Amino acid sequence: MPDNDRPHVLMMSEITVDGKLTLKRGASSKILMKYMAPETEILLHQTRAVCDAIMVGANTIRIDNSFLTVRLVEGKSPLRVIPTSQADIPPDANVLGPDARTVVAASEAAPAERVARLRAAGVDVVIAGADEVDLPELMRVLARDYGVRRMMIEGGPTLNWSMLNHRLVDEIRLIHLPFIVGGADTPSLVGGMHIETEEEMFRLSLKRHYMCGSNLVTEWDVLYGA
Ligand SMILES: NC(=O)c1ccc[n+]([C@@H]2O[C@H](COP(=O)([O-])OP(=O)(O)OC[C@H]3O[C@@H](n4cnc5c(N)ncnc54)[C@H](OP(=O)(O)O)[C@@H]3O)[C@@H](O)[C@H]2O)c1
Repeated sequence: MPDNDRPHVLMMSEITVDGKLTLKRGASSKILMKYMAPETEILLHQTRAVCDAIMVGANTIRIDNSFLTVRLVEGKSPLRVIPTSQADIPPDANVLGPDARTVVAASEAAPAERVARLRAAGVDVVIAGADEVDLPELMRVLARDYGVRRMMIEGGPTLNWSMLNHRLVDEIRLIHLPFIVGGADTPSLVGGMHIETEEEMFRLSLKRHYMCGSNLVTEWDVLYGA
């Protein structure tokens, strides 16, 4: 169970049978997303609509240029949260547009002029961490100052790893795509560092599985143990 001072976090992703999130390193996941069933796209937007916030890593913004808004169903777009240690977001990124409120989370090492430029453009900048974004601290700020109770993260693998490694992910929902793309360095669900021993494996419990249109969807609880 999450602490009361941080949001409940759901990791959601579309994923190939071989566990990959894109066609190859550097490719936008929008290419794979075109193959999601219409019903599953709706599920994704419904999930966004019931969350207070949505977070993706800065590299996903730089590669996919995501909007992270609710478009296919009625409902309010969640607060968009982008961690980037150096406040490195393209000024014309879709996520900085007027469709929803955005928080950029940066570290103390971020260049002051970038932070000032973002703030001048109406973006909230939260400083958390010395050299890289301190995700546990960011979670506390989102709960305390922005009232975020339920949050989803939509990748990519580097952020997914950091969130799991800090034990900040409570649930995982996967949309399985019937493809294999291969590639040893193709981004998979979780990147980051490898673990050393079986004791360090993240253990999951399957909660539900169902078809949504032509896609299998699986839902998992993350069990961190004592
Ligand atoms: N299939 C899907 O559902 C899906 C979803 C999302 C993304 N993707 C794919 O994933 C790929 C991008 O993934 P990625 O692993 O390269 O990048 P990512 O996880 O999207 O972003 C990682 C970046 O976030 C920033 N960051 C700041 N603080 C961090 C912290 N404490 N922990 C982790 N990250 C932190 C860093 O950028 P700074 O240098 O700016 O600090 C870091 O390089 C793209 O190809 C995209 O298409 C697929």
